[in-house]
Amino acid sequence: MYSSGTLRIHELTDEERAVYATLKPERLPEHVAIIMDGNGRWAGQRSLKRFLGHQQGAKSVQLVTETASRIGLPWLTLYAFSLENNLRRPRAEVSFLMRLLKSYLETNLQRMMDNNVRIRYIGRIHELAADVQEKMAWAADATARNTGTTLTLALNYGGRSEMVDAFRGLAAEMNLKHLSPERITEEDIHRHLYTAHMPDPDLLIRTSGEMRISNYLLWQIAYTEIYVTERYWPDFRGIHLLEAIADFQRRERRYGGLGEDCGEVEEDPERIRIAAS
Ligand code: FPP
Repeated sequence: MYSSGTLRIHELTDEERAVYATLKPERLPEHVAIIMDGNGRWAGQRSLKRFLGHQQGAKSVQLVTETASRIGLPWLTLYAFSLENNLRRPRAEVSFLMRLLKSYLETNLQRMMDNNVRIRYIGRIHELAADVQEKMAWAADATARNTGTTLTLALNYGGRSEMVDAFRGLAAEMNLKHLSPERITEEDIHRHLYTAHMPDPDLLIRTSGEMRISNYLLWQIAYTEIYVTERYWPDFRGIHLLEAIADFQRRERRYGGLGEDCGEVEEDPERIRIAAS
């Protein structure tokens, strides 16, 4: 259920509005996370350099964010740059992605304001170059009072390293408070994650067809519905976000419980024992 954000359905394209009309307003996700993949392949298919794929991918980031804000989605979390990208990609590509991030924030700040979008980040931000961190802080500060969609960019992010950071924080807290490990609860771990302030994603979208989680939000996606599309990220638009939400609404979420079509439940345990013997 939505908890924030003002609906601006009239700003959707006609195509988007047609898909939106098929959605059940009471079953809209609160938090959508996206693994944006396929920039390189999109460029390769067109015999273009990889960086042009990333550049086009940045346009998708803006357009998808704007659609999310129009339908009042409270939380949108995008995997923009992983720890592994940082360590394993050629320096030239990493430095291009950092320059692209800076220019993306600068160029799109006014659009973020117009769409009431608040920008935040998760990841080992402090390891990024000082000029990149400055621009990031500038965009976060400028949009801090916006009350619509919170766009969270995962940057220099890894799910396992997030857990390491969370466990370090929790261990330090326990040490300070002289608490024993038996007292640790799931809630304690949640409090120390980068995402402590937001609900877990209801829907995780991955573009470009790979069936992988790639170290993204590992703790948070325990009960998240996963939607994979063959479409490359630079071709992904607001309408595809709405299609993913429509697919999500056709799912039955069980959280480990029983679904509506689970059949008759055996009420007498004694009869089960007899049947099994
Ligand atoms: C995967 O494409 C995508 C990334 C490396 C991260 C996403 C980056 C962007 C969308 C660029 C702009 C982002 C912002 C926030 C300005 P890939 O290179 O792995 O594609 P491939 O698997 O086809 O090679």
